[in-house]
Amino acid sequence: PAVSPPAAGRFGARACVIGWPVDHARSPLIHGYWLDRTGLDGTYERVAVAPNEIHAFLERFPESGYAGGNVTVPHKEAALAACDEVEPVARAIGAVNTLWVDGGKLYGTNTDALGFLANLDETAPGWDKEPGPALVLGAGGAARAVVWALIQRGFRPKIANRNVARAEDLVRTFGGGSEAYPWEARQALLWDARILVNTTSLGMKGIGDIGLDLRGARGDALITDIVYVPLVTDLLDLATSWGLRTVDGLGMLLHQAVPGFERWFGLRPSVDAGLRARIVADIEG
Ligand code: ATR
Repeated sequence: PAVSPPAAGRFGARACVIGWPVDHARSPLIHGYWLDRTGLDGTYERVAVAPNEIHAFLERFPESGYAGGNVTVPHKEAALAACDEVEPVARAIGAVNTLWVDGGKLYGTNTDALGFLANLDETAPGWDKEPGPALVLGAGGAARAVVWALIQRGFRPKIANRNVARAEDLVRTFGGGSEAYPWEARQALLWDARILVNTTSLGMKGIGDIGLDLRGARGDALITDIVYVPLVTDLLDLATSWGLRTVDGLGMLLHQAVPGFERWFGLRPSVDAGLRARIVADIEG
């Protein structure tokens, strides 16, 4: 079903992020920055909703006065189930991260895949000129968005995951020439990958090591991480030291927020240096 276009310039619109816990969510900083910059008369709030209350909360959401909101852990699947209409990308990913209300109905989508692509288009223009094999590490929620996005641009994702059954599940869902592999295969899969995307939590400070020798990568391979704390993960640090192109995970976070803001407040915001600096300060602070 077609999803309605954004309502333009909703004066005084209210939006929120729904999670449990929700104190650490960074989306209030992002949308707060854009509200300041645009001078729009809108608000963006944190709303903590316990798992046993999410169903009733979302049922009442169209009457709550909110124009929409973001959904974060652990409610993205519940949001998918609660929507009256869901965009196909969110159904494929199995999670809704962006809601909006229109005519008393609740609509949902997932903006992670478009955020991933918009970030690469902006920071590594031409990255998809010659699509081919891609190596995706991990098969969780973030990997689903990445695999969908890569297939859109003609890449064939090879998904390496510790729990190979999860990778096989992605291949069944997305097809598109994707293939599932055990975690141990990652080094052997690296040699012809045009792009490497780490979607595992390895790389976050103190979690562990991806265990890849990047000398096995093509010289023109693009190395990307979904992790953005720290901004420069060990993987990106290593890639840079071998002279490989890198893209960090922060840009995806910023770009995935754009469609929601545009829908609720009626203006398309830009991901500028000031926004990046504000979030970097928060990460490092
Ligand atoms: P997200 O929604 O952020 O993707 P997730 O669904 O918890 O989070 O997925 C985390 C990913 O990191 C999974 O692919 C997980 O592998 P499993 O599916 O085998 O659990 C991967 N991961 C986490 N810790 C890992 C580790 N120590 N070694 C290898 N992979 C790991």
